[in-house]
Amino acid sequence: MTKHFLEEDQELAHLELSPGTPGGSRTVNLPVLQGTLGPSVLDIRKLYGETTCFTYDPGYTSTASCESKITFIDGEKGVLLHRGYPIEELADNSTFLEVAYLLMEGELPTKEKFDQFSDNITFHTMVHEQLRNFYSGFRRDAHPMAIMVGVVGALSAFYHDSLDIHDPEQRMIASHRLIAKMPTIAAMAYKYSVGQPFMYPGNDLKYAENLLHMMFATPAGPYKINPIVARALDKILILHADHEQNASTSTVRLAGSSGANPFACIAAGIACLWGPAHGGANEAVLHMLKKIGHKDRIPEFIKRAKDKDDPFRLMGFGHRVYKHYDPRASVLRITCQELLEELGYKHEPLLELAKELEKIALEDPYFVEKKLYPNVDFYSGIILQAIGVPTSMFTVLFAVARTVGWIAQWMEMIEDPLQKIGRPRQLYTGDTLRHYIPFTQRGA
Ligand code: SDX
Repeated sequence: MTKHFLEEDQELAHLELSPGTPGGSRTVNLPVLQGTLGPSVLDIRKLYGETTCFTYDPGYTSTASCESKITFIDGEKGVLLHRGYPIEELADNSTFLEVAYLLMEGELPTKEKFDQFSDNITFHTMVHEQLRNFYSGFRRDAHPMAIMVGVVGALSAFYHDSLDIHDPEQRMIASHRLIAKMPTIAAMAYKYSVGQPFMYPGNDLKYAENLLHMMFATPAGPYKINPIVARALDKILILHADHEQNASTSTVRLAGSSGANPFACIAAGIACLWGPAHGGANEAVLHMLKKIGHKDRIPEFIKRAKDKDDPFRLMGFGHRVYKHYDPRASVLRITCQELLEELGYKHEPLLELAKELEKIALEDPYFVEKKLYPNVDFYSGIILQAIGVPTSMFTVLFAVARTVGWIAQWMEMIEDPLQKIGRPRQLYTGDTLRHYIPFTQRGA
């Protein structure tokens, strides 16, 4: 494959097809498109028409599914930018709602615009009273992510008729409703699991404060929000807000490409995020650390993680894109240490165990050669546990945060003039044509 510039400066890649390929030997020119950052892409939209060949890329390891301006990741350097702003600067200086505005609108808001956006979100935080009935259909021990998939999907029944996704105003209202109601629905899932009454949101509370209030306050008495905990939770939400075309975001885009109801699309994203290879890893990390129990057992688990015949993997380690330290994990590692000290934890065994596990893994040739570093899920669970969030709710809070990323990406897709329904092809290796045989003629 060689690439050269034509007179009009359109960069092209030459694809030389050998005599054995369909249509025989010939050269196909593929336009090479260059973004503002990151690798160039080969534009293969005309490839099938010119070669009758598909490309083959299970898991989309080398495939750009769309053009986007929202988030850029440099996996080799451990860089994460939201609309050009480094995640580290946003985590230290911004708030989750401001990052939500940035992801959706593309610019940091003026104070006036932010206040208006924040008020819009606040005044959508309550859910329809009928929505409360969906919870009673679940067993009390239902996983909160199962409840989230069901209840968020049910929102599509409450807003379906008033929703024309081609009307920007209606898209914005649906987006505000989702951002506003996710904490309420999440907190209700938690309250349902512990048998406590649902708490209504408070219009005088900020986003993370409201989430803490609805999860941990009870009608029986006052609940004092710890500002340190609220700030830590808000930072965790920022760090989980968006991450380019990850599995759940790609799910939301694919569901949205058919014109599906956005509430149903977000429910599809929640379902995908739940998997332990994706957002479910934060919960799996805590289970793994508790299973390891003591640093003396770390070598045993490192050995298992390296054993191809053992399905065990080091949860919170490795990443499809990052082949360097996940910048979010770096921020969370520091936040974890600071928060535990601020909360008066003299010694947190799980954090000590996690740091020892990280140290040993990063010195092991297997992890070094495969460039397996801690990812966003490795430390987040320790922080969430320290602020009182039960393990089963870790991925739910990830979903609350990622809703703003899913929405920003869904809006970008709907507004993309080149957008069409997503419909991948396949490499078929099944049976060739054969004809039906009645029972009497079939072999034993
Ligand atoms: C998230 O995409 C995103 O952006 C996701 C996310 C987001 O914000 O949306 O960042 C959030 O999902 C983070 C990832 C959370 N998942 C985990 O922590 C689960 C543990 N990690 C692995 O399952 C794995 O690393 C993945 C799923 C994250 C990435 O898998 P890939 O890209 O398909 O890589 P791979 O499985 O092909 O791994 C490459 C090699 C393999 O060995 P070989 O077949 O080449 O011999 O590394 C090995 C893997 O076996 N490997 C691990 C490992 N992760 C990869 N071996 C042991 N422990 C691990 N954790």
